[in-house]
Amino acid sequence: MKKPKISVIGAGYVGLCTAVGFASKGYNVVACDVDEEKIAKINKGVPPFHEPGLQEKLSESIQKGNLKGVVGQTDQVIQETDLTFIAVGTPSKSDGSIDLKYIESAVINIGKALSQKDAYHVTIIKSTVVPGTTQNIVKSKLEKESKKKCGTDFGLCINPEFLRQGSAFEDTLNADRVVIGSYDKRSGDTLERLYKAFYSFHMPLIIRTTLSTAELIKYASNAMLATKISFINTIANICEKIPGADVKVVAKAMGLDKRIGPLFLDAGLGYGGSCFPKDIKALIVCSKSLGYDPELLDSVEAVNKTQPLKAVDFCKEQLGCLEGKKIAILGLAFKPDTDDMREARVIPIINQLLKEGAHVVAYDPVAMPIAKTIFLSKIQFATSALRCIKDADGCIVVTEWDEFKKLTPEDFTKNMRHPILIDGRRIYNPEIFGTKLQFTALGLGKK
Ligand code: UDX
Ligand code: UDX
Repeated sequence: MKKPKISVIGAGYVGLCTAVGFASKGYNVVACDVDEEKIAKINKGVPPFHEPGLQEKLSESIQKGNLKGVVGQTDQVIQETDLTFIAVGTPSKSDGSIDLKYIESAVINIGKALSQKDAYHVTIIKSTVVPGTTQNIVKSKLEKESKKKCGTDFGLCINPEFLRQGSAFEDTLNADRVVIGSYDKRSGDTLERLYKAFYSFHMPLIIRTTLSTAELIKYASNAMLATKISFINTIANICEKIPGADVKVVAKAMGLDKRIGPLFLDAGLGYGGSCFPKDIKALIVCSKSLGYDPELLDSVEAVNKTQPLKAVDFCKEQLGCLEGKKIAILGLAFKPDTDDMREARVIPIINQLLKEGAHVVAYDPVAMPIAKTIFLSKIQFATSALRCIKDADGCIVVTEWDEFKKLTPEDFTKNMRHPILIDGRRIYNPEIFGTKLQFTALGLGKK
């Protein structure tokens, strides 16, 4: 059977991983983005962001002619393809609700193109949108612009993504589940057929449902994961008050209970990234607008807001006043294996350190170019972890890169002026580090 042609609007980490995923399996894919620089890189086979595994498959797909990048979103792209995934960003507005302007503009363009197209076409929303958006906004705009009827003349689905940055490409190829919310049966069947062919023998479980349920599944999943993180951080904060208690051991034992599970129980400096903070806020605003106050989610957010600042409190406990002290920061990205700094926990930490008069030197294996655009000349950047801790009065590990896990107690004692180490992500063994230097680990009760 002939493979359908696919277009993807928005070549961020979700859109590009989706585009390259299909192209790597022989589909003909067009990736559209308004960012000319991004498209130029894609067409050269170079990923515009750091994502393990993407480079090889992207350049292979470009060379084979399975993938091409297009600036903007032309009518021609819609005419030439059978299905269009929309993966543009849905950033937060100042009140926490999501900004749909990119979705709306993509949908209006698709609607206009559909007015000139006779063949059946399915539009699939991959971006995270609050329940009701696809039905109330996307469908109406598509119908208005195309002057056609959804469900009969063209198809509409919502297909939320569950990609983790740092393993987004791997997650594209090996999903836990595929959620398809469809306006009508034909739209859903078309997308289900595409995924069945794409995953072949490794087809994950498919959940077919309504548009609103599919939209809510994405928010509920992210809210659950964020809740697990704020929960374990709460337990970590309790552990710190109990001599001898250790949140790592608590989490390990809890995780062995099948009803709880071991994942997302790593206590630390809180969650960041382009999804959790934005999605929790949006779900709270959406729920309140519907007349229900989701107090649990307010607490999840509140814990996450104060958690990073604990690193600064630990520093002050050890060093007293921070004025003029040199503090080394290991890790800037919101998590390892990405250069993304959106809502990175390091941002409030560094801002507070600067407010307290500290001199900050930071190092990250890949996120420094982006960090430089955020902190400008307010902090210094080092070219390696060891150079970063050199002559420092204190060091905070903010992101758990593998490279930092290899550092030994001697690396800290030999290089730092005062070997004060704050392990914000629990990567060091307290039994070893605790005896050799002034060591504070998150969620570890004082002896
Ligand atoms: C995605 C989702 O779409 C978002 O809703 C979800 O919550 C997280 O994952 P992400 O891939 O992180 O977002 O977005 P981003 O990296 O910002 O990429 C979006 C891309 O769309 C950018 O490259 C941007 O240039 C492009 N874009 C934006 C367009 O092509 N057209 C527009 O009108 C707006
Ligand atoms: C998340 C979801 O996992 C993914 O399904 C969704 O599509 C997008 O949002 P991502 O933001 O890439 O993915 O990263 P994730 O691995 O979920 O981590 C998010 C944040 O939580 C990071 O800052 C990470 O450091 C933190 N985290 C994660 C913890 O603090 N503890 C944990 O146990 C796990």
